[in-house]
Amino acid sequence: MYEKVLESAEYLKGRISLSPKIAVVLGSGLGDIVESLTDTETVEYGDIPNFPQSTVKGHAGRMVAGRLKGTPVLIMQGRFHFFEGYSMKEVAYPVFVMKLFGIEKLVLTNACGGINESFTPGTIMLIQDFINLMPSNPLIGINDERFGPRFPDMTEPYNLELLELAGKTADKLSIPYGKGVYAGFPGPYYETAAEIRMIRGFGADAVGMSTVPETIAANYLGIKVLGLAVITNMATGIQKVKHSHERVIETANKASKDLTNLLRGVIEGI
Ligand code: 6GU
Repeated sequence: MYEKVLESAEYLKGRISLSPKIAVVLGSGLGDIVESLTDTETVEYGDIPNFPQSTVKGHAGRMVAGRLKGTPVLIMQGRFHFFEGYSMKEVAYPVFVMKLFGIEKLVLTNACGGINESFTPGTIMLIQDFINLMPSNPLIGINDERFGPRFPDMTEPYNLELLELAGKTADKLSIPYGKGVYAGFPGPYYETAAEIRMIRGFGADAVGMSTVPETIAANYLGIKVLGLAVITNMATGIQKVKHSHERVIETANKASKDLTNLLRGVIEGI
């Protein structure tokens, strides 16, 4: 796998003249930040050798490199989800490529359901920890020490300095936020009320279908992670109405302004 990842990373280096050390993965409906970049260079996932092939129509699948007030950043517009049928290794593949491309800090964003009742739709939750409820993870299989250790530590999956910076930045910009634990379900169905009661008991504050595999891979690779989860609705049994993907996207689009401002502040502060 190392050679394949290296080939992908070398291709990206050939297409992108900037050398960003910070990357951002944008979740559903959270794409606004790309518009504040200058000197942009775009690479479609389909052009990157060995990259997972996108199956979903209408899903943006591209890397955008650019500057945010001078700071070079690499933005992933569109991610791979386990529920689409990708293996956990495929879901995390872009993070491996980022490592060999030179990324040192990664901001993972997502739209998710709130379990902690102090949150309301639109709240940004700074992720403090995760619970992996997916049936696997991207590190299963023979280990290549060139990437990372066989038994990686997960004491601090979300970097404490980045968490503190994100909190201070949100305070400064008066952006409402919370903090908590993100539980990653495989999806694609929204959980049952009983599943939500169960994971609330486990200590989950929010629930979604992404972010956990990328967090695991990044920690293994020695990339520092910041996780920003936008609460688009409350989880099953907590809100009265049924879930709809359209409402999730609508709320995500509304909250995208706050998220973009927070992201800009954090990146400037790094
Ligand atoms: Cl309630 N659950 C999951 N798994 N993902 C979500 C969500 C809920 N709301 C937005 N994304």
